[in-house]
Amino acid sequence: MQPIIHQEATQESRTNGNRRQDAAISPGLSTRTLHQGAQRRHAFHSLTPPIVQTAAYTFEDTDAVIAFKSSPEKARLEYGRYGNPTVQGVERRMAALEGGEAALLVSSGMAAITLPLLLLLSSGDHLIVGDDTYHRTRVFANDFLVRYGVSVSTVPTTDLDAIEAAIRPNTRVIVAETPTNPFLRCVDLAGLADIGRAHGVITLIDSTFATPLNQQPLQYGVDLVVHSVTKYLAGHNDLLAGVVVGRSELIEALRDSQGLFGAVVDPSTAYQIHRGLQTLGLRIAQQNRSALTIARYLDSHPKVRRVWYPGLASHPDHEVARRQMTGFGGVVSFEIEGDGAAASRFVDALELAHIAPSLGGVDTLVMQPAILSYFNTPREQRLALGITDELIRLAVGIEDEQDLLADIAQALEAV
Ligand SMILES: Cc1ncc(COP(=O)(O)O)c(C=O)c1O
Repeated sequence: MQPIIHQEATQESRTNGNRRQDAAISPGLSTRTLHQGAQRRHAFHSLTPPIVQTAAYTFEDTDAVIAFKSSPEKARLEYGRYGNPTVQGVERRMAALEGGEAALLVSSGMAAITLPLLLLLSSGDHLIVGDDTYHRTRVFANDFLVRYGVSVSTVPTTDLDAIEAAIRPNTRVIVAETPTNPFLRCVDLAGLADIGRAHGVITLIDSTFATPLNQQPLQYGVDLVVHSVTKYLAGHNDLLAGVVVGRSELIEALRDSQGLFGAVVDPSTAYQIHRGLQTLGLRIAQQNRSALTIARYLDSHPKVRRVWYPGLASHPDHEVARRQMTGFGGVVSFEIEGDGAAASRFVDALELAHIAPSLGGVDTLVMQPAILSYFNTPREQRLALGITDELIRLAVGIEDEQDLLADIAQALEAV
């Protein structure tokens, strides 16, 4: 893991001896999310990073404009679409948390997926996409990118042999997600990165369900990691954002294309993300714990047919998850005994969980994918993906574990 010390403190440790560095040997989750990549000092001695709410930056005089335009080192900012100090603060923190060189904050999780693909792919190129990725990722690849002359192979996410077999001379990018939604399938990150490296193909991992606290794909040699910041990282179901983390050279190229596409994050939103990140360690620890307890409870319940949670030994990717994850996340999927109506009775009987299509926030959310995310997908097609009428996805929040268990128990009575 990277040292938690931010740049200023490292300077300080040079003059004050190694006191700070020694103190930073193995920080815990909450220490990391409060301090990793964080700037120690801000304007006006503010404890919190200021929200620099501006669209443009002023120049003192014409010489200053000329000096800025002629310098290859852009030591200051010019216009809001090309950068903002509040946004940059969050980018530094995300790079540090993921162990990457640089990060780019973008306007949504979808922008974090579409922007790299639009940058890296040209007409005539080939893309491999995991079959269990977020369904909009697959829609973007198959319905949109193909219009621009990109060919797409959709391949079983966890089958490394199938991924390798799908590689063609013109393959440029492999997109996968781990854990996936809603079956929490886990891709062997080291294996995937090896395939990418061996064939000179860029690997991109959507790590939204894990967060950098449960898994760090860059450590395994993956090229780019993306998140829907909307979920755990911001954590309060009150904003939309995304992030891409990786090598500086790739991220700077992406930053240039962000200036063209315009998918930027407002400084106030960036501040809210900063605030959300401060409690990420506490939230993830609790969500990991509660989800595991709930998964075990459901697994032993006679009214539950099957549970998918990577922390359970019965999950098909439990061994992969154990190798590469430090916690198994807050989402549990399961099938109720009976039919879709029984599943709806369970969902409607829950008193704490809200019915909503997101995850990763402080509130527990629940949904039947067949009725929510896949409502417009033909039945045969969704059944082929395993999305049965009885399937339920529970995104565990930070309510007390015993209260969530009691609520689930009383709702199962209603089935
Ligand atoms: C795994 C995953 N990736 C990406 C996205 C897209 O994120 P956003 O809604 O922030 O655009 C989602 C949203 O549900 C998601 O679950």
